[in-house]
Order: sequence, then structure tokens, then C-alpha cells
Amino acid sequence: MSRIRVLTGITTTGTPHLGNYVGAIRPAVAASLDPNVDAFFFLADYHALIKCDEPARIQRSRMQIAATWLAAGLDPDRVHFYRQSDIPEIPELTWLLTCVTAKGMMNRAHAYKASTDANEVAGEDPDAGITLGLFSYPVLMAADILMFNAHKVPVGRDQVQHIEMARDIGARFNHLFGAGRAFFTLPEAVIEQSVATLPGLDGRKMSKSYDNTIPLFDGGHRGLKDAVARVVTDSRLPGEPKDPESNALALILDAFASTDEAASFRAELRAGLGWGEAKQRLVERLERDIAPMRERYEAFMAAPQQLEDVLQAGAARARRIAAPLLGELREAVGLRRFVAAAVPADATVASRAALPMFKQYRENDGQFYFKLVDAAGDLLLQSKGFASPKEAGQAVAALKLLRGAELASKLVTLAPDADPQHVADALCELSAAAERPSGGTG
Ligand code: TRP
Repeated sequence: MSRIRVLTGITTTGTPHLGNYVGAIRPAVAASLDPNVDAFFFLADYHALIKCDEPARIQRSRMQIAATWLAAGLDPDRVHFYRQSDIPEIPELTWLLTCVTAKGMMNRAHAYKASTDANEVAGEDPDAGITLGLFSYPVLMAADILMFNAHKVPVGRDQVQHIEMARDIGARFNHLFGAGRAFFTLPEAVIEQSVATLPGLDGRKMSKSYDNTIPLFDGGHRGLKDAVARVVTDSRLPGEPKDPESNALALILDAFASTDEAASFRAELRAGLGWGEAKQRLVERLERDIAPMRERYEAFMAAPQQLEDVLQAGAARARRIAAPLLGELREAVGLRRFVAAAVPADATVASRAALPMFKQYRENDGQFYFKLVDAAGDLLLQSKGFASPKEAGQAVAALKLLRGAELASKLVTLAPDADPQHVADALCELSAAAERPSGGTG
């Protein structure tokens, strides 16, 4: 059984608010705990450059968003958590994809069309102020997704068209260069239907563009309290019965409270609870969830080196998947070496200690076995017995070439206890190492 790859990007422009937490961060962290899910969450900081030319804001937002996700419980050892800009294979893939993407399709992208429409309404040149970055934004996004062969991409409704474009671009590349083999998995958008959008201060959807947000961590407890104080209510006095649905308070509470808590909050409002008192209760309930996370958030913000280390490690793991695939893609489009690289026999000796390894041996039962251990020496795969060393060697060679579903089904017969994902990661690492140009003189 191979795990479902779920991937999503977070554009690093703003500061996370309560709506981001309830609508995106919390469900994503919960989904990442599913043992059948192999999650990829990344900071889309190349995308942020399209919308923002203030370096200090970009930098601040990347740190805040990284710290927020970790504080919210994301386990970086369990998922792939990285910055897009730490994966040089992504912009390289973007170019390969750009070369097979129809310009006409990009002309129809909603985000681009909205900008040209606005220009036309304003009586300007349709392309006034529009960068090529904005125009080709969906190609970069396709590279983010296709690079890791994601199956499912959780996104907001506004992004669905981009996922369709990624499918289109991936299919076209497969068709042109795959020679019958699919380099890319065609991704599907997942729109979380059950997650109702959180209302903001004025009752409309909580969104930076409406300026009606409640900050998640920024500004501390005080910031949260001050924002809740600004939730718009009517002028009914304490003691007067109130309609709990006349403003956002009860709906915000719903996103955190149990059904019982939510029902008694509504009952008390109907019985005359003052708005001031109600806001205080809401803050207290929010704080129960948020205060412990805020503490972790602040600890991360005070330890940028720790954040940096986590993200670098995440990028290194992600690149073990990206680099071998990009190598194959370069090969497929014709960007090949003129002569086969001469790999000196001892080229990998220096780095051997840090790589996964196949070991072959003979057991007392007279049969021949092999095993695969990771860089740390932990067992990833134990083969069944073979009659001869040659057969064991051939099985190793065949295994090295398998990936994905083929690998998983092979392992079922060969080594049913092995985790296909771990084995696949190790094989990628081995083939990436074999492809690296050697530093020695050979
Ligand atoms: N464009 C997405 C947004 O604004 C962010 C994003 C970038 C993304 N690359 C992605 C989302 C890849 C999903 C998959 O929300």
C-alpha cells in the first residue's frame, strides 16, 4: 500500500489570523496525522514575490508562517515541510513546463483576467502593471505540485482552476516526452466542504482584504482581546435578550467549543448576557486553545536558527525526491551529457557512510539474502532467501529501478514488512548520489 501524497503551499505574504488557523492550518495538521497520508506543506515564497516587493515583509511573513505551523502541532519529522525557495529543482522544472504550456490557457487564468478586466474598466492598457510573474503564476504552481507527484491538493475555491492547469500541463509533458510512461501524477483539487469559513469582525468572511481579521498570535493575548472587542454587535444592554446569530461571536466560538459549550453560550445570550461579558467568555475559550500554541510560537520566533534548521532539513528530504526526478526530466527533453559520465570506482567512498546501503550475505540455511539499511544503519528491507548470489544480486538491481506502485507491489512478495515509502526514499537517495558529479580526479 503506498501512501497518498497530499501537498499544499502557503503564500508567505501576511500574518496568520484565526480564519487561516481554522480553515487551513488546523485541518492540515490533523490530516498529516493520518498514517495513509504523506504530507507536503511548503512556504510558497517564490509566489509571495509576485505580490510583494518589500523584502522585510517577505522575510517576516516566512518566519511567522513557519513558526505558526510548527506551533500548531505540525511534526516536521512526519511530513515534508520546506521553503519553495530552498528547492532549486522547482524553478528549473518551471522552465521545462513553461515550454509546453499554451499561452492561450494562461490568458484565461482567473487571477490574470481579473487584473486585465480591472485595467480595462479603469480605461488603462489591459496589461498595465501586470508582471510576467503574475501571468505565469500557474506554471510555477504546477511545478510545485508535479515535482512531488502529489495526488491531492487541498486549496481554496479560487485555486481550483490552477490545479486543472497543473493537470493539463502535466499531461502534456507526459504525452510529449514520456514515451508511454507517466512522469507526472495528475493531481486533484480537494476543497474542504465541511470547514465553514470563519466570520470576521463585521460578520463577513474573515479575510485580510476586508480588514476584519483576528490575529492568531501576533500582538499576543492583548492583540486577541482587542480584536474580539471590535466584533460588531448591536446596542442591546445587559439584561436584554439577544439574538446569538446577529453577529460573529457565537460562530467564532463554534470553531473552538464543544456542542454543549456552544449551546449554553447561545442560551445565555438569549437570557440577556451582556455583549462585553460575552466577548470576555469568547476570549477565554479561544485562549484555552491558543495560549499554549502562542507560547511555542514565541519560542520559535525567538530561535530563528531552530526554524532555519527545521526548514533546511525539510528541504534536504524534499530534494531527495525532486533531484532524481528532475534528472530524468532533463534527460527526457534532451538535456543530456554528451558522453556517459565516467564514474570512478571509489567516487562514493567518502560519502558512503551517509548513504543507504544494500548488503548481501549468506545465512546458515544456505540461502542468499540481502537487506537495505538507511544512512543511520536502520533496517528498511529484509529480502526473502534466494538460491544463488546471482539471483539475489539481480533482485537488488531490479529493485533499484522501481518506484511508486510498481515498487510497492514488488515489496509485497519480496519483503512484506518493508514500508514502501521509506524504501522509495532510500532508493531515490541512492540514485541521486550515483548521479552527482564526483569531486575526485578518478
Ligand atoms: N497559490 C496558492 C494560494 O495562493 C499557494 C500555492 C502555491 C499552492 N503553490 C501551491 C497551493 C501548490 C497548492 C499547491 O493559495
